[in-house]
Parts: sequence; C-alpha cells; structure tokens
Amino acid sequence: MPHKSLTKDNNVRAAERSTLMSEDDLDHNRRHFLTIATAVTGAAGVTAAAIPFISSLKPSARAQALGAPVEVSIGSMKPGELIRVLWRGKLVFVLRRSEEMLQRLSANLENLRDPKSAEVDQQPDYAANDTRSLKPEYLIVEGACTHLGCAPVEDFEVRPAESWSGGFFCPCHGSKFDLAGRVYKGVPAPTNLKVPPYRFITDDVIMIGQDTGAV
Ligand code: FES
Repeated sequence: MPHKSLTKDNNVRAAERSTLMSEDDLDHNRRHFLTIATAVTGAAGVTAAAIPFISSLKPSARAQALGAPVEVSIGSMKPGELIRVLWRGKLVFVLRRSEEMLQRLSANLENLRDPKSAEVDQQPDYAANDTRSLKPEYLIVEGACTHLGCAPVEDFEVRPAESWSGGFFCPCHGSKFDLAGRVYKGVPAPTNLKVPPYRFITDDVIMIGQDTGAV
C-alpha cells in the first residue's frame, strides 16, 4: 500500500498534472523529494515501521553504503503494491504488478518515447522486453527521474481522458512514466527509468545490484 502521505500528495499532483508548476510548487516538491529520501533513509537505519520490508534488507546499512547488493523480501507483497528500498544510496522501486496492470502495458504504446527499451543503457539485456523485467509480475526500477534526478511518485489510477494508464509522475517538471518505467513523449525526461541489475534468489527474494546475466 502506498504511504498515506504520498497518496494524499498524489491526489494533489494529479489535479495539477496539465499545468506548468509555479516556483512555489517547485520548491514544495523539491522539499517533498527530500522528505521521501529522508524517510527511506531513516526507515532503513532506525525503524521498519514506516516503510514495509525495509527490515528485510541485508546486509548491514554500512555495507549498503559501500555499494553492496541488497537483498529484498518480496514474498508478502500484494498485487499492486509498491515498496521503496535503497541501493548504493539510490532509491529503487519494487512494484508487484497485478494481472490487470500488466494488461495496461500495451494501452499507450504510441504515447511512449521508447516502448521497446531500445536505449541500451537504461536496462540490462534481460530487462529489454515488453515488461522491462525478469518476471512480468515484478518491476524493479531506480526511483530517479531521468531528467534531473527527482524522485517520481506513483499514480496508478487509470484516466483514459488523459491517455494515462497509471505509472509514475515526476513532480519537479512533469515527466511521466508508465507501469514499466517507460517515459512518455513530450516530457522533459529523455529516457525510460533505469533498471538496476538484479536477480531472483528465490521466488520470494531478490538481490538488487547483482545479477547472473540470465534471461
Ligand atoms: S527532474 Fe523529473 S521532470 Fe525534471
């Protein structure tokens, strides 16, 4: 389940989606980005209560800071659930897509800049497919907008009138990404969200930052 405060903020931003953000809005959202980063970092170091599954991260926070891979338990995730983890100090989104979400991936292909993930640097070869993932159900992408690095927020609501099938919205300058992290045309972000290297240790545990190159 999205964090309550994030859900509230998403609703506000959805109403502002088609308008150019004022400087006040921009400042607000930059502060919001810092709040998110602080919340995840704090949860990883102090408590697992605010961000589910942070407690499952291994190895230690110190090893993570040095760039070690992080192990993430995904066995309890419900369809449609998003969690945030830290890897090498970067925010990473792990989304368990429902069947219905997977069907939405083909809804707006004409509105996407790189629907086939042809930009080779944005994902490992094993994620250069229609779902941009090893297993269709799970999306793992870095939570950094490819424009200037702000943290996008989730907006999974479908709004056909806006040609929006759910995905991620960057509040800083309005970039939009679909449920596979594929960037929309006509936004500042030039490329899809980056997929980090990862592998499945078991069906319920992934390792972010390490792979076997397997398809
Ligand atoms: S940083 Fe995301 S749109 Fe500019």
